[in-house]
Amino acid sequence: MTCTTDIPRAPIEVPACAPDETPQQHTKPQPHATPQPKKSGGPLQRITIIGARGMLGRDLVREAAQRGLEVRAFASRDELDITDAATVEEILGAEPTDAVINAAGWTNVDRAETNKVDAYAVNWGGPANLAWCCKRIGAPLVHFSSNHVFDGEASKPYDEDAPTAPVNVYGSSKLDGEEAIRSSEAEHLIVRSSWLFAPHGKNFVRSIIDEALRSTELRVVNDRFGRPTSTADLARLTYDLMERGARGTVHAANDEIATWYDLAKCVVAQAALPCRVQPRATNAESSPAQRPRRGILAIGRLTDLVGRPRSWHEAIGPCIAELIAAAAERDAWRIRPETGELRRAA
Ligand SMILES: NC(=O)c1ccc[n+]([C@@H]2O[C@H](COP(=O)([O-])OP(=O)(O)OC[C@H]3O[C@@H](n4cnc5c(N)ncnc54)[C@H](OP(=O)(O)O)[C@@H]3O)[C@@H](O)[C@H]2O)c1
Repeated sequence: MTCTTDIPRAPIEVPACAPDETPQQHTKPQPHATPQPKKSGGPLQRITIIGARGMLGRDLVREAAQRGLEVRAFASRDELDITDAATVEEILGAEPTDAVINAAGWTNVDRAETNKVDAYAVNWGGPANLAWCCKRIGAPLVHFSSNHVFDGEASKPYDEDAPTAPVNVYGSSKLDGEEAIRSSEAEHLIVRSSWLFAPHGKNFVRSIIDEALRSTELRVVNDRFGRPTSTADLARLTYDLMERGARGTVHAANDEIATWYDLAKCVVAQAALPCRVQPRATNAESSPAQRPRRGILAIGRLTDLVGRPRSWHEAIGPCIAELIAAAAERDAWRIRPETGELRRAA
């Protein structure tokens, strides 16, 4: 019998909750400063990472260690709640740092629709608190934003200065976070990325592997386009940009464009899972939040600054291998050496 699983309800961007405000719409073009050499500091030595237990945060910590940086990391909101301005001032002001990297965020796109106050508190209030504190202590703020600041209706990839027009609460809250940082006049680098995947954390690639291990057929959305991006690569690109002294807004993502269907098909093929992947159209009713149709970030500025990133096809191999090894260990699956295929152990 064929077990069909409909994936994804949505592109997965994860965790954390309010009133019924209408999200603000932003349609004005907002020219962003072309990255300039940094004004303060010398080479990076001591950095602060917030949201260090998140999907991207873990790779930022790992990459910093590989580069020999001294890291002060705050794993979660229990260690430093960025929505609490007084605590941010007290904790961040206590020790000198060459940069503050904010990998904390409300990332559950669907839940943001019904939990607007909490989503805004983290994605708008948090960066605002951090920016004011960074300005006071004289440290640049590195912050992550999303392709969801765009409506996805443009016929070409969005560059950094393209008009923003979020189609969901998550995107509006991320855009307001960006604006709060810019208006604080703190030294900053805002890195917009998209469709993050990693062997850890909740993400689409991981969900596809889990579903493909349970089902013989998956139906995946084939009319939403983006740039899948490895968190390990994004962490590397971020430090490269920081070392280069980039400031302003930069789009950072892996090369090559895909639909969720393309990505799922590649994952299932590379993992050699006995599951068919079928394309399907987005069903607007199936998820609370709308998604940008073609939320494709242009990566020309990134390429000029630190070189062209590799393609997501290349970046995804190690992630799949790690997820398959973990699934095999967790669920007693066995890899058949002759085909590389996964089979449940007898
Ligand atoms: N995932 C994507 O596809 C994607 C795409 C583009 C951009 N981004 C952006 O990239 C950044 C990182 O995303 P991610 O997917 O790595 O996120 P994630 O895995 O959901 O991790 C988010 C981290 O933020 C922490 N956090 C949440 N609320 C907090 C608060 N009030 N104070 C301090 N920490 C708090 C979480 O800790 P707890 O354990 O306390 O919840 C968690 O460690 C976010 O800004 C996101 O918007 C993500």
